[in-house]
Amino acid sequence: MTPQPTSQPPSQTSTTPISEQPLPLRTSREPGSEPNAPKRILVLGATSGIAEACVRLWAARGDSLYLVARNADKLAAVTADARTRGASRVDTAVANLDATAAHPELLAHAINSLGGLDIAFLALGVLGDQGEAERNFAAANPILHTNFTAPVSLLTWLANYTAQRHSGTLAVLSSVAGERGRKSNYVYGSSKAGLTAFVDGLRNRIDRDGVRVITIKPGPVKTAMTENMKGSAKFADVEVVASTLVKAIDKGTDVVYVPGIWRIIMAVIRLIPERIFKKLNL
Ligand SMILES: NC(=O)c1ccc[n+]([C@@H]2O[C@H](COP(=O)([O-])OP(=O)(O)OC[C@H]3O[C@@H](n4cnc5c(N)ncnc54)[C@H](OP(=O)(O)O)[C@@H]3O)[C@@H](O)[C@H]2O)c1
Repeated sequence: MTPQPTSQPPSQTSTTPISEQPLPLRTSREPGSEPNAPKRILVLGATSGIAEACVRLWAARGDSLYLVARNADKLAAVTADARTRGASRVDTAVANLDATAAHPELLAHAINSLGGLDIAFLALGVLGDQGEAERNFAAANPILHTNFTAPVSLLTWLANYTAQRHSGTLAVLSSVAGERGRKSNYVYGSSKAGLTAFVDGLRNRIDRDGVRVITIKPGPVKTAMTENMKGSAKFADVEVVASTLVKAIDKGTDVVYVPGIWRIIMAVIRLIPERIFKKLNL
């Protein structure tokens, strides 16, 4: 699906390989030159419950936003809310981010609209149906594509753009589910394990170029993704999660467990010997 930006798209085509894509030409100010200037933030998957809560905080402090989501109605609601809360500027594009060939054009246009890039926040993701995915690869494949392949495509372009400019933060929502495969969600979990490894490797590559790369590992959070899960009423509050994330992104923390207790829970889970772990119903 071709992205449908709200302003003029750039001229390059979406079929040119990412490595050959021209990078955006217009940056209205050099990164870091105006420390109190509004941050220029690109949100990919902006109608995600977690992203929406972050957008509310970024808008309230007057940041400039470029919001990308596949559902036009939901995106319009998030955009109107961000404008009401005080965002300096909000531009949008409707795009199904599974369409990787369209990423270079979409990203170049977003960054031109923002006049540069301080933060890219990747929030797209699907839980999928584990049972269906066990029976049929056709159900597993879209989970792997949306959670792993599409973010890898976005991050490859964004990493090259930011590394060339020696500035920017790439913050990516992975999951604690990627830390150890479990029978109840190992297809989703493996997509997030792949994403975590990719993001960690990317940090190892471009941190030295001055780009902060942040791996975010939420435990269960109350959003649309988890509303039908058992015990969801006890999951973490999305506003609290967003407040932690906005601070961690500003700080450039490498790996963020949210809520923080999940760092300890997952350390314990990783220590369980496989001969015991394989018998557990997790
Ligand atoms: N909630 C949790 O407990 C939890 C825990 C760990 C990690 N995470 C991760 O956090 C991220 C945000 O999740 P959430 O909890 O905020 O759930 P959510 O509200 O269901 O958000 C997921 C978002 O991804 C978007 N999306 C999915 N496929 C897309 C595509 N092909 N193109 C564009 N957008 C697409 C969805 O768009 P639509 O609105 O159009 O469906 C939705 O806005 C996800 O990566 C998720 O895996 C969540």
